[in-house]
Amino acid sequence: MTAKPSILQELPTDLHRDRLPKHVAVIMDGNGRWAKRQGLPRIMGHRRGVDTLKDLLRCCRDWGVQALTAYAFSTENWGRPLEEVDFLMTLFERVLRQELREMKEENVRIRFVGNLDALPTSLQAEIERSMLETKDNQGITFSVATNYGGRQEIVRACRAIASQVQQGLLHPDNIDESLFERHLHTAGVCDPDLLIRTSGEMRLSNFLLWQAAYAELYVTDTLWPDFDRHEFHQALASYQARERRFGKVGNV
Ligand code: FPP
Repeated sequence: MTAKPSILQELPTDLHRDRLPKHVAVIMDGNGRWAKRQGLPRIMGHRRGVDTLKDLLRCCRDWGVQALTAYAFSTENWGRPLEEVDFLMTLFERVLRQELREMKEENVRIRFVGNLDALPTSLQAEIERSMLETKDNQGITFSVATNYGGRQEIVRACRAIASQVQQGLLHPDNIDESLFERHLHTAGVCDPDLLIRTSGEMRLSNFLLWQAAYAELYVTDTLWPDFDRHEFHQALASYQARERRFGKVGNV
């Protein structure tokens, strides 16, 4: 978050506090297109995207959302031009270093989810520090999916469970959803209730494949750098207007 004073913003009066999503997940898409439209290099879109994310985190905290997960870098994003990948890795590291103090003050618990071992070692160190120094915070849980892939996460969980079976520590009959969830990167954080994707693409793109089974989806044409509190307000209003049935029969 930036150094500007953090004045708590009230929840808009048309939203019901008791029907807010506990966990919001975001696919922050459209940074490159946003930059291109402004005649700027793609990386400027990512830089601007950080400000959008900081505003959303603050807004979630102010309005009472308990967890926010952002898709910052997918396992497929390594296929981007080397300069863009390098820029993003440096950006993550710099943002973490700059924002850690304020996030601690704001009682944010930071988590990174994904295959973190493949990230640059200096970034891994910053990630470890931020998670360690905020682990006891009781405010909003902010998860950053970095080098994250939903399929890879599921395969990794299967491998860990299979190994326990092989060692005779676990019987296959005892494998259930709750045990499986405990082997995912996201263990300990509830499933997302609302999944927002910007820039109009109607895809999950390998994000939270297990966890988003019953998430309400909200897709907006707005490009990520332009996603603001008003858009978030609209997404929450749309969420609150829906009936979540979880496969059961609704109030018809
Ligand atoms: C997708 O837009 C965006 C990304 C792959 C990067 C998102 C990362 C940030 C906003 C930085 C977050 C920082 C921290 C520390 C969590 P795109 O490049 O795919 O856009 P395009 O589809 O228009 O090309």
